[in-house]
Amino acid sequence: MDNVIFEKKQHTALITINKPHTLNALCESLISQINTALDTAENDPEIYTVIITGSGKTFIAGADIKEMYRKNETEIAVWAALGSDLNMRLENMDLPVIAAINGYALGGGLELALACDIRIASENARMGLPETSLGVICGAGGTQRLPRTVGESIAKEMIFTAEIIDAQKALNIRLINKITSKENLLNEAISLCRAIEKNGQIAVKSAKEAVNISRNSSIQGGCLIERKIFSKLFSTDDQKIGMGGFLAKEKNIKFKN
Ligand code: HXC
Repeated sequence: MDNVIFEKKQHTALITINKPHTLNALCESLISQINTALDTAENDPEIYTVIITGSGKTFIAGADIKEMYRKNETEIAVWAALGSDLNMRLENMDLPVIAAINGYALGGGLELALACDIRIASENARMGLPETSLGVICGAGGTQRLPRTVGESIAKEMIFTAEIIDAQKALNIRLINKITSKENLLNEAISLCRAIEKNGQIAVKSAKEAVNISRNSSIQGGCLIERKIFSKLFSTDDQKIGMGGFLAKEKNIKFKN
């Protein structure tokens, strides 16, 4: 796992993309290494949250243009599926995933960040989908997730113009949740994880599932599924611990997890 560093920080898996000579551009082997790191996180019952960040001045400067350049239509379709599947995995995995955007998040890099549950960025971060400036479009979900995140009109403006925006603009359009100093980015991401980790983890996972369902369902259909998930949680120990703890006026409720 040479280009992806996996660190366990208490209940958090910190995954750092580390291929500085290409600004962490996503190539086939990097995608495979990220999947391996996610396997490790998912197979460890002590891991409750995941942070993805980049080393150096970049989060991910996009898909690897050198690797993509000579591919024909059939080959690139196979290649694009790797990126697309990775993003689908991030979006649908049980664990909450936070993108800590430490610099450039462009093209496939922003597409990956868009598949994460929460995005925070350092003040030097720059984000965009510059694919049209390369004569192509996004291939790993950018045209689908950006409009769902910032609205169709803003997304179209960013995609058509290939504009690269700074962290402040990203915050203004709600592409990210928060800006921090570069030095404090990981601390912020970790405190976000700690705030998530103190809650019932079955509930957090269920909440992710329910919110994800809201994207593709009517309000009636979504509320019906939500109610089913809500009711199911009443067969967990965590529900008895959480509600029982409140009623007993406990200060620090410890979930079973
Ligand atoms: C391959 C890349 C790369 C990329 C940077 N590099 N981005 N290599 N693919 N996406 C390499 C450069 O070629 C260079 O290598 C080294 O990293 C440093 O980059 P510089 O350009 O010298 O750095 P700088 O001047 O600081 O500019 C940073 C930058 C610029 C603004 C991020 O590198 C840039 O615009 N990169 C491309 C961004 C992009 O268009 N991304 C979208 C890709 S398409 P050498 O060997 O020269 O030192 C995409 C489609 C997704 O993502 C589809 C998914 C299925």
